[in-house]
Amino acid sequence: MDHTIQGSLRLPGDKSIAHRALMIGAIAQGDTTIDHLPDGGDVETTIDVLVALGVTSERSGQHITVHGLGGFHWQTPANALAMNNSGTTTRLMLGLLACPPAPLLLTGDASLSQRPMARITDPLRLMEAQMATTEGHLPIRIHPVRTLHGADIQLTVASAQVKSGILFAGLQATGDTTVTGPVHTRDHTERLLQKAGADISRTGLTVHIKPLQAPLQPLQIDLASDFSTAAFWIVLATLLSDSQLQLPGLSLNPTRTTLLDILVRMNGDFQVVDFPQAAAAEPMGTLQVNSAKLTSTTVDAAESARAIDELPLLALAATQAAGRTVIHHIDELAVKESDRRAATESILRSCGATIDRQGDSWVVPGPVALHAPDQWPDLPADHRMAMLQIAAALVAGAPVPTTVPPVVAVSYPELTYDLTKLVTSR
Ligand code: S3P
Repeated sequence: MDHTIQGSLRLPGDKSIAHRALMIGAIAQGDTTIDHLPDGGDVETTIDVLVALGVTSERSGQHITVHGLGGFHWQTPANALAMNNSGTTTRLMLGLLACPPAPLLLTGDASLSQRPMARITDPLRLMEAQMATTEGHLPIRIHPVRTLHGADIQLTVASAQVKSGILFAGLQATGDTTVTGPVHTRDHTERLLQKAGADISRTGLTVHIKPLQAPLQPLQIDLASDFSTAAFWIVLATLLSDSQLQLPGLSLNPTRTTLLDILVRMNGDFQVVDFPQAAAAEPMGTLQVNSAKLTSTTVDAAESARAIDELPLLALAATQAAGRTVIHHIDELAVKESDRRAATESILRSCGATIDRQGDSWVVPGPVALHAPDQWPDLPADHRMAMLQIAAALVAGAPVPTTVPPVVAVSYPELTYDLTKLVTSR
């Protein structure tokens, strides 16, 4: 069966920006409004955690008003703070809660409890936070401290979550904080904090933040659509012949669109047909995607770090590109919601593709005609892996699924509906 994609799709709001806008709204003075709030489970976790800390809000569909506390005036929660499956909630909240009024306990689900947390608690300890992990993982206990101290933090991991957690702690410290990473990762925290009136700036790979002198101002945000969710459609519309897809209101923050830079190099066919210079802190516009015959490329470590959530879909694209695609620095994929490095290999191999792991890199020769297996391998419950499997099956010509694994709802509860709306079979 041959599929094509035709039409236009306004995707759910950006999950990364939503977490940050909710958290900044929680400490701002006054009411923050967020439109186009995504429904996914991770964002629910952030809202629930803030409620447990005494932050009130009103929600109506995709609109939320957050009544800011006007500072770090947390109420002590009755129970442990449940981070569920959300790594972003955890690492950002650890920074926001680094100087709590009473001891706090943070817990996570089985998958989140396997993910590394020392990468955020170690630098926060350099700022004098007191945090006890469970051998570098959740559960984590945070103890009150009199003050946090500004520090110059050098990150060895390219992580926007860790950078953001440190910036949130820096707002509450005495003295300035700098955080320097190996790569300029997604900069939503910096943009939103600046919009809310924080004294924050960037020089090369170093972000500088000064302690707050006055409470942050509330934000009014209309969230752009999530680029990482769009990646599913961008790769599919590129690979399925005769496709023409428009994605209006899409987040086009350059620290998020590295997948497009890579696909353009591979002969992908994209146009930004309308790019309003909105007063918004975040750039957004309409992306037009047409099908294309891809050629291979080499993806360097900095690109991999910026496109980390899109690498599995990029590997799928590479199986259809003429030549040998090399994707460097894939190790970080092994510590995401699941071991995405292994799961990607397993999905693509079960469709007949070749994907070789060489050290910290993937080598993917193409093009290879994919076929959907009768029996898929056992896969972890991970939204991005479920979506990779659906994309690979469609490229392989399998029928459009009428149900998808429930875990997809972590980021994209509308997927089944959108599949029936946009994919036509011939
Ligand atoms: C995110 C940063 C990335 C990404 C995650 C969301 C964020 O994680 O994989 O899905 O919102 O800051 P790392 O910071 O661990 O790279």
